[in-house]
Amino acid sequence: MTIQIAPSILSADFVNLESELNAIATADLVHVDVMDHHFVPNLTLGEPIVKRICEVSPIPVDAHLMIEDPDRWAPEFAKAGADSVTFHMGAAHAPVRLARQLHDMGAKACFAVRPAEPVEPIFDILEEFDMILIMTVEPGFGGQKFLDNQMNKVRRLRDEITRRGLSTKIQVDGGVSPSTAAIVAEAGADVLVAGSAVYGADNPAEAIAAIRQKAEEAFRA
Ligand code: DX5
Ligand code: ZN
Repeated sequence: MTIQIAPSILSADFVNLESELNAIATADLVHVDVMDHHFVPNLTLGEPIVKRICEVSPIPVDAHLMIEDPDRWAPEFAKAGADSVTFHMGAAHAPVRLARQLHDMGAKACFAVRPAEPVEPIFDILEEFDMILIMTVEPGFGGQKFLDNQMNKVRRLRDEITRRGLSTKIQVDGGVSPSTAAIVAEAGADVLVAGSAVYGADNPAEAIAAIRQKAEEAFRA
């Protein structure tokens, strides 16, 4: 079992991104939230900045696209150097075609569901994805309260992955901290995104270690 910790730079200091990236070098991935003011009511950054982040980051970049028309834009983030590209069920028109296109470009493909979206429709196309993201807040903003009502969804997905002997990762994003890490890991999540809990901490490396330890103790395969 390997737990991966993915700090979200949404809560970082955007004018000092290089040092903020170096501050999380003990994590496994850096989670970059791309928002377009349409799919979610917030705006962050686009592919020129993601490209630069990929060039300087000490760890692989996981681009979480909360944007409309990922069929058009997601490949641009693979081209920018993202190790994995996540797009949303509620936005993608042809998720299988898009996942295959990302794979052809050398990136991992991840499919995301919002809190009110079921995970079962993904079961028939699970093999197309390296990772499934179960949102544990409504996407758009950092620092929101963790939605524990998403844990049954995580459990159902973990059971399906185990039953079929797949290696698909389960990512959770929103409200993850040292106090919720055990809950998500017990449900079966193995990639934990944490923004405010890492960048809001006095020592980001200690926060990463605390989240990792809680999750490793609680994880069920
Ligand atoms: C929310 C973003 C998250 C956000 C998480 O829409 O997708 O990645 O940064 O922030 P916290 O960990 O503070 O809930
Ligand atoms: Zn995110």
